[in-house]
Amino acid sequence: MDAFLLNDGHTLPAIGFGTVGVQGAKGVIDLTTAIDKGYRLIDTSTNYNNEGMVGEAIRHSSVPREELIISSKLPGLAHDYDKAFKLIQEQLYRIGIDYFDKYLIHWPNPKVGKYDQAWQALVDAQKLGLIKTIGVSNFLEEHLDRIIDKTGVTPATNQIERHPYFNNNELVQVNNDRGILTEAWSPFGRNIVDILADNTLKKIAEKYDKTPGQVVLRWNLQNNVLPIVKASSPKHQQENVDVFDFELTEEDIQAIDAMDKGEDGRVEGQHPNEYEEFV
Ligand SMILES: NC(=O)c1ccc[n+]([C@@H]2O[C@H](COP(=O)([O-])OP(=O)(O)OC[C@H]3O[C@@H](n4cnc5c(N)ncnc54)[C@H](OP(=O)(O)O)[C@@H]3O)[C@@H](O)[C@H]2O)c1
Repeated sequence: MDAFLLNDGHTLPAIGFGTVGVQGAKGVIDLTTAIDKGYRLIDTSTNYNNEGMVGEAIRHSSVPREELIISSKLPGLAHDYDKAFKLIQEQLYRIGIDYFDKYLIHWPNPKVGKYDQAWQALVDAQKLGLIKTIGVSNFLEEHLDRIIDKTGVTPATNQIERHPYFNNNELVQVNNDRGILTEAWSPFGRNIVDILADNTLKKIAEKYDKTPGQVVLRWNLQNNVLPIVKASSPKHQQENVDVFDFELTEEDIQAIDAMDKGEDGRVEGQHPNEYEEFV
């Protein structure tokens, strides 16, 4: 798999594996199958309630832990500095690992306004070796600038909603301007938005004998965005890593960009200034 170089000198593989809903014994099978198919970046969160599954899959996997990139997220209930610092350690115990390769603040919760304390906790946890790469998720320009101004530390990644109906290109540019890698969550719109049935994607996919999903992943990669995609089906898992043998034209990319529906395309209720995440 190709790799992205981060502003902290670490690298990430080009495609990440999402784990929303991947839980229990079936989850362990799904994740170990994904690892066998070549996925190394595993995206979890306290809120996904699957840290036990992630730990179990790591222990069952034939791939050594050092080759896996385990990424988790800080929930809204722990934005106070002390709470954040303790929870990071608790999450490591739950998964049964000594360090996170990557760790993000899940949502800024700007109405509460404690995300700068949370960021300081991540900065300090990184200094102690509990986390290798620190980043954020769902941060808008003003949230990024506040934590950078307060701590002098720029996040390595910002994981944001991005799919063809809500391409979030302006925020991708904000990230680029600060040397922050964009990760795309719900690149296929989950099961909420039926993006993969769109005719524009179907036509482009036919041209390359690929699937609409593969076209969406390529569109992200060619825009220097790392897609985090969830797939339980082994067929989907395979498809989503078979994306390094074709290239979209500039015209294709523009056609996909033109699918954007602005705010109407966003997963409902997920604007980072409105969405309140306290669990
Ligand atoms: N930071 C955040 O706030 C945030 C928010 C949302 C999500 N995320 C992360 O992003 C990850 C991905 O987002 P998501 O889980 O919401 O949804 P998604 O990846 O956009 O879509 C997952 C759905 O697409 C299907 N699928 C996967 N590959 C496919 C293919 N090649 N062709 C057709 N269908 C395919 C999956 O089916 P099967 O499972 O049946 O294969 C599943 O139903 C999450 O799991 C999570 O790790 C982060």
